[in-house]
Amino acid sequence: MTVQVNGKLFETFIDSNTVHKRILELGAQINKDYAGLNPLFLGILNGSFIFAADLFRSVTVNAEISFIKLASYKGTTSTGNVITSIGMEESIAGRHVIIVEDIIDTGTTLHAFLPQLQQQNPASLKIASLLSKPEARKYDVHADYLGFEMPDVFVVGYGLDYDGLGRNLPGIYRIVNQ
Ligand code: XMP
Ligand code: MG
Repeated sequence: MTVQVNGKLFETFIDSNTVHKRILELGAQINKDYAGLNPLFLGILNGSFIFAADLFRSVTVNAEISFIKLASYKGTTSTGNVITSIGMEESIAGRHVIIVEDIIDTGTTLHAFLPQLQQQNPASLKIASLLSKPEARKYDVHADYLGFEMPDVFVVGYGLDYDGLGRNLPGIYRIVNQ
């Protein structure tokens, strides 16, 4: 099936049933790994909000969830991109944290942000990502809980956007003729 998002054509890539089945599997794995640990899910807005909600509902162990936004700007030194988090209210010291991302592409975002979280001494820090584009990776970042590996193509739907649109599509759609 094809859809138009913001004037561009996208075709079905992963249908919503397949997405939901995979998320149930990830939830079952998290239930095993985190029994009794009260993990704190930390969703990265905006793209992860639907994945985070479904993943969180698939988890039956005691767990908490919070969301942050990341803003990146060019550093003035050779450090390159600087990432700041907005909305980080609870302390993660001593907590078992699971970062929830929509997609790991080059890995730049998490490569810059993970050390900042590590500085706050969480008990453990893992990454759950719906999608990963291994071919696009520039930094060694991997998801501990991964929905799907995919080629380096642009996708929308299930929280992911093209210029703000397409997040409400139930499945994941890839661009036609990128
Ligand atoms: P990096 O390169 O830092 O990128 O790993 C992660 C962020 O890039 C966005 N991104 C996408 N968004 N469709 C989208 O809607 C895509 O195919 C795509 N690839 C990367 C996304 O915001 C992600 O958090
Ligand atoms: Mg986006």
